[in-house]
Amino acid sequence: MASMNHEGKYSRGYFMPPYECLKWTKKEYVDHAPAWCSVDLRDGNQALIIPMSLEEKLEFYKKLLDIGFKEIEIGFPAASETEYEFCRTLIEKNMIPKDVRIQVLTQSREHIIKKTFEAIKGCDNAIVHLYNSTSVAQREQVFRKSKEEIIEIAVSGAKLCKQYRDEMGENNVIFEYSPESFTGTEPEFALEICNAVLDVWQPTKEKPVIINLPVTVEMSLPHVYASQIEYMCENMKYRENVIVSLHPHNDRGCAVADSELGLLAGADRIEGTCFGNGERTGNVDIVTLAMNMYTHGVDPKLDFSDMPTLVEIYERVTRMKVYERSPYAGQLVFAAFSGSHQDAIAKGMKYREEKKSERWTVPYLPLDPKDVGRQYDGDVIRINSQSGKGGIGFLLQKQYGYTLPKKMAEDFGYAVKSVSDHKHAELQPAEIYSIFKERYLNKTEPCNITEAHYKQNEDGTITAKVTAKMSSGEFRICEADGNGRLNAVANALKDVLRLDFTLETYEEHALERHSTSEAVSYISIVHNGKTYWGAGRHSDIIVSGMKALVSAINNID
Ligand code: KIV
Ligand code: ZN
Repeated sequence: MASMNHEGKYSRGYFMPPYECLKWTKKEYVDHAPAWCSVDLRDGNQALIIPMSLEEKLEFYKKLLDIGFKEIEIGFPAASETEYEFCRTLIEKNMIPKDVRIQVLTQSREHIIKKTFEAIKGCDNAIVHLYNSTSVAQREQVFRKSKEEIIEIAVSGAKLCKQYRDEMGENNVIFEYSPESFTGTEPEFALEICNAVLDVWQPTKEKPVIINLPVTVEMSLPHVYASQIEYMCENMKYRENVIVSLHPHNDRGCAVADSELGLLAGADRIEGTCFGNGERTGNVDIVTLAMNMYTHGVDPKLDFSDMPTLVEIYERVTRMKVYERSPYAGQLVFAAFSGSHQDAIAKGMKYREEKKSERWTVPYLPLDPKDVGRQYDGDVIRINSQSGKGGIGFLLQKQYGYTLPKKMAEDFGYAVKSVSDHKHAELQPAEIYSIFKERYLNKTEPCNITEAHYKQNEDGTITAKVTAKMSSGEFRICEADGNGRLNAVANALKDVLRLDFTLETYEEHALERHSTSEAVSYISIVHNGKTYWGAGRHSDIIVSGMKALVSAINNID
């Protein structure tokens, strides 16, 4: 039997809190927006194959402001010239709105802290973000230091931050501390080190402190992280003046769940990136988090109503791709190819229109695509060989105004699927319309009616005199009676073509796609036990009916 079991190689490197922390399980959903901090320009940028240039960072920064971020980690100014220059540009060119805070990252080393404060000189509103690693693995393997020594790194960094803030008179600066690799740290130790830093910084209502508890590496199921967060929130000193922040990475693919459960467990703030760019598997995707809230009816306080522009900017400046199935933003996330999904969506849309309903309940679409700047036409119902009559009919109706009779939609559906199957390709609406025209509409070969005259008889019947032109060039004239014009024409054609058929379906509607309204008629006839369909379109409803009939006759094989 196939197996990937490497005896003893892996084990669970996380720690549960010392007592059960499961109060958060009683909460059902995230009922208000957290404070959001975008780390696209720092954590996201440091994970790119080619980091963003100054101009690219500026463009992305402006977009983040448009979306509504009030806190943006703009870089690690002491780490590179570009980062430093970017920070100075924002400050010197007055590019930081009054209600926005820029955040800068620093390690706990004096020259780095000093340079960081130089970088933010003159800034009206900044967060200095200090971090050091606290996990067992980092303590043992990277730093080879005891817990006390690790606390000392954090505390000395915290003191230096305080000293530089005081010396530089930067009273507009608040502090953030991250016990980096929190998820590999014993919760009691993480608490001890955070409390030690808080003792130095002494948070107040006016100058709160952010304690950021990162999932630097995702190691556990999301509920374990949530329990750790509940434990931290319950035991942290100065809690009322501390903003508890989460910073999940996505190694196990659960960063969104970590964030959501962490918020239930008491956190106040989220650090993440758009579309989840970031180290390795990325940071938590803020787009998904915010839109998850939105689709629960909660205002996320971020505006993603123009998703296509955000995707375009993001892909250009980061040189990354938004995956086609990335929640809410991917190219295919609203697309339904399968017949049963298309059918349900088409019916759901119709129901919504009929009920004039405000509430969005369309099956298979958790979000109205228009809310993120996407269209129904082209984005939702997409046609390939998996598609069904419902979707194909819906598309023809929405884009070209034709509402086919149920049975005709079925016939057309098979025809379209078969074309797509043979081409092994998706079909665009224009191609679908071409198939419709070619197969049914105003067909004049091998028979075309060039003239038709009607006479009303005393008994109420109609006599039609019809001139038919055959594809050989020959003209045939014939007269016949019927209980209506169409019936009379049908009888005349039976005669002239020596054909036996019965009229089975007749439907018509106005086609109001153009300034001059036209009529469309659909007819099915039965010949030798088989059904043939035709459609006619004309400004005169009688003529459109006759054209539909001739088209159906011309389809007899
Ligand atoms: O992932 C992480 O732990 C970080 C810290 C610097 C907060 O990016
Ligand atoms: Zn990170």
